[in-house]
Formats: sequence, structure tokens, C-alpha cells
Amino acid sequence: MSASALEQGEDAFRKIFRLYRKKNPPADLSGVLEFRSGESRLRSAELRVNAVSDQDAGRVGLQPLGFLFIVNPFLPGWQHRWVRQCLKLYPRKPNVCNLDLHMSLESGRDLWDHSHAQLRKKSPRRRSEKTLLEKLRWVTLGFHYNWDTKKYYREHQSPFPVDLAELSRCVSLACGFPNFRAEAGILNYYHMDSSLGIHVDESELDHGSPLLSFSFGQSSIFLLGGLSRDVAPTPMLMHSGDIMVMSGASRLLYHAVPRILHYPGGGVLPPCLSVPPSNDGPNALIEPCAAADWEVCQAYLQSSRINMTVRRVLAEGGSFPEEDADTQHEAAMRGHGYHTENNETQEATQAHGYHREQ
Ligand code: OGA
Ligand code: MN
Repeated sequence: MSASALEQGEDAFRKIFRLYRKKNPPADLSGVLEFRSGESRLRSAELRVNAVSDQDAGRVGLQPLGFLFIVNPFLPGWQHRWVRQCLKLYPRKPNVCNLDLHMSLESGRDLWDHSHAQLRKKSPRRRSEKTLLEKLRWVTLGFHYNWDTKKYYREHQSPFPVDLAELSRCVSLACGFPNFRAEAGILNYYHMDSSLGIHVDESELDHGSPLLSFSFGQSSIFLLGGLSRDVAPTPMLMHSGDIMVMSGASRLLYHAVPRILHYPGGGVLPPCLSVPPSNDGPNALIEPCAAADWEVCQAYLQSSRINMTVRRVLAEGGSFPEEDADTQHEAAMRGHGYHTENNETQEATQAHGYHREQ
């Protein structure tokens, strides 16, 4: 990498990011890891409840688990329920989303109420005006991530959804992380032209816990790099239902999503008619997705991808650094639609939390 290229920001990661971001002509995908292919480079692992912890592995000289990729472990019909939660439930108060300014104008109605009829009615191509649901870019849960300051604040918190906390507990436990606690969630909503810039998730005060990532809907290319942007990233395909666990040494690696793509057999969930009758045990935490709700979700997912990341923010017994409470409160409120920026600016600056790479 020459010094001048670096000056222009053309590091090894960005070079690959731009390669896969390109649509015309689209990048050759033959070098992208496809975990479903059974390629010999990949060691596959089933999600097992007795998985060993990194600590235990270390005691007998096994390499730590690091980055884990779990090919869709959801039972038939259950991805639908999580998608419905992401579109109908999680954007509601007290959770925070990029459209909070709009929502306050529409008192009493939520995003779903506002958009579902429209979404069901027309195909995306025939709709000129985007519904509010289609303008949703992010939702934060638990300790609300502040996009401006890139911090979490003790004062800016709402109860973490019990169902998602439990899903996270089960997955982390099954991967050998019994101490994981779901304290913050960032839900990203992508459309076919969206991307997620190159970043490291380092705002959490504890990096000893893994970061869990759940993907639904259309497929994407995920780039996993190194500790510096000078390390060229590995491209991999992520499909609906897939789960990634960034743990151990992989927790602070650079990563990005340059492309969302229609991948044959990848992102498409069965239509509402084939949502199987519930395969619930007696204590299912979330109810089946009703056929009428699924019609809305399905219309939305035709050209969208949803990603939920769940994080632990504080170490065991840890607390937020002592700052002046007023400063904290003020900072917590900034960047969340409580100030008087106009909608256009608000949308432009916060449409995607992470800035877009060209
Ligand atoms: C994130 C993130 C990846 C994805 O939200 O921090 O890296 O697959 N998401 O959307
Ligand atoms: Mn991330």
C-alpha cells in the first residue's frame, strides 16, 4: 500500500469494500465465503448446548473460539416471528429509532399502524412514496447507543425486550458464554442500496463479552477484517436466519456490510401460506406471526434486510464512568430527535448510524 493511496483513505479494507459495493458491473462473488457450501476451508459446527468456553479451552491448550458463524438455527416459522417483532414491536416506545421526530407528529399511531395497509397493498415498484416503515433505519434497545457521541449513558436506558434477551442468553450459553447479558441492542434496517461503513464496535465498556448478530431477509456480503484497516477483509455471505458471534480476539475486528443482494435461495422466507402451524412448546415467548402480519413483513423483506446486534455494555460489577450527571443527560438526549433539527437534516445525518462509504 503506497503512502499516497493511504492518504486518500484507500486502505486494504476500503479497497475490498469498494469492490463488493459496486453494482455495475457487480463484483464476482466466487471468492466470497458461503458457509452453506461445505467448502473445505470451513470447519462447521452445530449449535450445541454444551459448547466449551474460551476459558476452559485455554486451560487445555485449544484455540479460543473467536468468530463463530451459525448457519440458520431457527425452527420453521420462527424467523417470521423475529421479523414481526423487528417491524411491529421493537420500533415502539420506549425504544428509540431514527424516526422519533416524525413519530411525535403522529401522536398515538406507531410506525406499523401507519404503514401496514400501504405495504400490503402495492408492490414496491408501484409505490412512489415510501412508507414510514421503509424509512426506518435503526432502533436502539436497552442502553441506547448515541450515534453522535458514540457512547452509552446510564440515564438513557429502557427495559431490554425480554424475548430478545432470552434468545441472546440461549445463543451465548450454547456458544460457551454463560455470563453474557443483553444490555444494548442496535437493529439496522437495510434496503437494496444500503451499506454499513467500515467500523469496530468498541463503545461498549466491556469487550470481554461477545457481540451477537442476527440477520433476516435479503442476503448480504459481510467483510471481516483485522485489528487495522490495512488488513484485507474476508468476504462472506450472510443469509436469513444466520447468526454471527464476534467473541474473543474477533470482538474488536474491523467489519462492514458493502452490499445487500438478492441471492438465490438465500434471503427469501416462505410465503405466509406456508408459515407452519405453530411448533411451540407450551411456553413460547413470542406468539406466531399471523398471516396478515406476515404479508406486511414479506412485502417489506422483498427488498430489505434486518440485522439485530445484541451487546453487553458493562463488565461484571462494572459501572459507567462518573461524569457530571447534567452533561450525561444532555449528551444522552442529543442526537435522538429531541432537539429541533428539521426532518430532512435529521434523516440525512442519521439515516444510517454509521457513515456510508462510497
Ligand atoms: C453493527 C453491525 C452488521 C450487519 O450493527 O454493528 O456490524 O450484519 N452489523 O448488519
Ligand atoms: Mn458492527
